[in-house]
Amino acid sequence: MRIVILNDQTSVAEAAADIFVDQVSSKPDSVLGLATGSTPIALYKVLCHRFSCGKLSLKGCATFNLDEYVGLEGHHEQSYRTFMNKHLFRHVDLLPQRIHMLDGVADDPVAECRAYEDRIREAGGIDLQLLGIGQNGHIGFNEPSSSLASRTRIKTLTPNTIEANRRFFSADEFQPRLALTMGIGTIMETRHVLLLATGKEKAEAVRQAVEGSVSARCPASVLQFHPRATLLLDGAAASRLEDTQYYLHAEDENRHL
Ligand code: GLP
Repeated sequence: MRIVILNDQTSVAEAAADIFVDQVSSKPDSVLGLATGSTPIALYKVLCHRFSCGKLSLKGCATFNLDEYVGLEGHHEQSYRTFMNKHLFRHVDLLPQRIHMLDGVADDPVAECRAYEDRIREAGGIDLQLLGIGQNGHIGFNEPSSSLASRTRIKTLTPNTIEANRRFFSADEFQPRLALTMGIGTIMETRHVLLLATGKEKAEAVRQAVEGSVSARCPASVLQFHPRATLLLDGAAASRLEDTQYYLHAEDENRHL
């Protein structure tokens, strides 16, 4: 795992954007795995800016989003498709037919998940997978106790996650309790995982993911087994790590390579 501790949320977004730009420059037809949540919004803003300055084109890329709520139409205000349209898709040159998202209102969710796995495989696999992390250590919507070998499937959200995401829904609005999510096994097959975490609310989850035992209690801890996982953290999200000095030292040394 590469642990990069940065000053603030802006530096995390800029560093993540650099990794995306490098990926797409070296492989213009990259397959990108995308995430939702408040954490990647700053990154998407930087990517849109770089696109508008002519420093990035996503025209050759395909994208696969991690997850979607069950029961929300794609055009619903709180669907992840609406989120992605708002923060990225409508501002860049991705071709609509190369944008892939799980359908939260599919008649047959099991078939939908299986077909999603097929589409990822047919696209040649995911080159760069963006992840956030839940306060309980979830990645995508793989809640604690998810099989570390799981594939794309339907998941029951924990009360904790429902509570954490309540802020996006108005009091009288239906809030989904189920989601379709790429599985942990699916995420582990991606070639490069880029996890972003900012804010002190994520400090405990980050500590368990990086320095705890690998366990389904903290799904993100499985990334300790990933051959190429980069974690970009701000100081608050990194504040409970014990080996901070080593992570800073390693980054410093790597700059001279
Ligand atoms: C949601 C998403 C995750 C995301 C997590 C953290 O539940 N399914 O992909 O990483 O929440 O979100 P935030 O960045 O808003 O803290």
